[in-house]
Amino acid sequence: MERFANKVVMITGGASGMGKEMAFMFQAEGATVIAADVSEQRLNDLSKEGIDARYVDVSNEEHWRQLADDVYQKYQRIDVLVNNAGISSEKTIEEIEAADWETMMNINGFGAFAGMKHVVPYMKKHQEGAVVNISSYTAQVGMGLNVYTASKGAVRAISRAASVQYGPSGIRVNAVFPGVIETPMTKGLQESQETLQRLVGATPLGRLGKPREVGQAVLFLASEEASFITGAELVIDGGFTSQ
Ligand SMILES: NC(=O)c1ccc[n+]([C@@H]2O[C@H](COP(=O)([O-])OP(=O)(O)OC[C@H]3O[C@@H](n4cnc5c(N)ncnc54)[C@H](O)[C@@H]3O)[C@@H](O)[C@H]2O)c1
Repeated sequence: MERFANKVVMITGGASGMGKEMAFMFQAEGATVIAADVSEQRLNDLSKEGIDARYVDVSNEEHWRQLADDVYQKYQRIDVLVNNAGISSEKTIEEIEAADWETMMNINGFGAFAGMKHVVPYMKKHQEGAVVNISSYTAQVGMGLNVYTASKGAVRAISRAASVQYGPSGIRVNAVFPGVIETPMTKGLQESQETLQRLVGATPLGRLGKPREVGQAVLFLASEEASFITGAELVIDGGFTSQ
């Protein structure tokens, strides 16, 4: 089934982990995929696989302006935007400096906001489009007060607000909330047997998630199958937040 034939899909953080997996999943379903990332080495590898790989720092508004403009000029449409780029931090409240707060908010929060600000106007030209923002289960439950949690709370809030703002233009905006997923970002957690056992033990399905399992939800929300779904919040966490 090719749900994304003739569709143009932009994914940030598309050179690693979930973003990379999603890039290939969208491509396998017929999409032209643009993967935007700051990792030049990984972008080079991606472009060999038929992905339009672009160097973009999502916290830089000028990069967004240029990217959205270039992609629209080249393909004459933008159908899907997945705001997936992100960084994480384990710093505690006492360790967090103003600069840490700023960097995290700029990449995880402003990055997703700026993506919508610059890409949605091109979707509006066709009166259709779908945005999927990657938040985190940490924005849903009261664990780990840190700057990462705060940034993902921002993603949650702007997703809902954007769904209301853009609905009348035919553009849907949804957010997903992954639990702990096996990607380079969580390598450290996975390598500590103690942490791994604790996380797995606290997850009703008894394991960590796979990038593909997040991708399947993202592709659904981005597809026509979700044509009446906007402003939705979907947890993909093996049941963690339902406790
Ligand atoms: N892995 C998890 O358990 C988990 C859980 C919940 C949410 N998330 C979120 O999912 C998203 C993907 O995470 P992942 O686990 O695949 O991580 P990852 O580290 O494998 O991939 C993140 C990608 O984002 C890119 N990136 C970082 N800063 C960037 C910037 N300023 N501009 C452009 N690209 C940038 C990185 O280069 C990398 O390719 C992130 O937003 C993360 O916060 C991850």
